Amino acid sequence: MTKNFAHRGFSGKYPENTILAFKKAIEYGADGIELDVQLTKDGEIVIIHDETIDRTTNGKGLVSDYTYEELCEFDASFIYHGQMGFNKIPTLREYLEFVKDNNIITNIELKTGIFEYHGIEKKVWNLIQEYKVEKKVIISSFNHYSILRMKNIAPNLKYGLLSETWLINAGKYTHDLGIQCYHPVHYNLIPKVIDEIKKYGIEINTYTVNKESDIRYLIEKKVDIIIGNFPDLTGEIIKEYK
Ligand code: G3P
Ligand code: CA
Repeated sequence: MTKNFAHRGFSGKYPENTILAFKKAIEYGADGIELDVQLTKDGEIVIIHDETIDRTTNGKGLVSDYTYEELCEFDASFIYHGQMGFNKIPTLREYLEFVKDNNIITNIELKTGIFEYHGIEKKVWNLIQEYKVEKKVIISSFNHYSILRMKNIAPNLKYGLLSETWLINAGKYTHDLGIQCYHPVHYNLIPKVIDEIKKYGIEINTYTVNKESDIRYLIEKKVDIIIGNFPDLTGEIIKEYK
């Protein structure tokens, strides 16, 4: 059955990529959580989507220009005008501490598409081992070199290649790189694309799926994971098909 992953946590109703949004995703029955990681000036792995803190916090500037301690001053829920309290940018360590004892699967997206953040793959791997979550993570990135680097260090983890283009022969491409999952934007998933990917035995984990009709189509097409901002809606629809 298709699994329900919360994109940046329950980001449709709560501040994205915060512990609050992750808690709410679990509370509303998500099978998994997708989150984004970048590196601070002092090498801390933090959970934030953009390379800058401008859009999601009350601060300005590059994540990589701040130490983690400095970043803690900013409110990652400021767009909610205080209704959500103060929520800091979490570290990946803090997140893993929070999920280590439950069954939630975490899709860690390495945000290495603009800055490569040299060494981030090894740092993420060290934390995965420390928290013993090897079987509960999927590592994805739009930077496929980054995925191959990490696979070289940690060959037994599950990996996904992110794509927002109409890649031809995506199944063959993914298979030939020895990767288990393909993570396309959902509107690329016309039937012939799905068929080609499935032919190679590749898992299809697709984003960002928020509309009921899209959720139904993808369940009917038996995609493996739907990543969306509303895990409550996705969960309700999946239940109907069980
Ligand atoms: O991992 C799926 C999706 O999150 C990729 O796009 O921009 O939301 O990180 P983006
Ligand atoms: Ca992401």
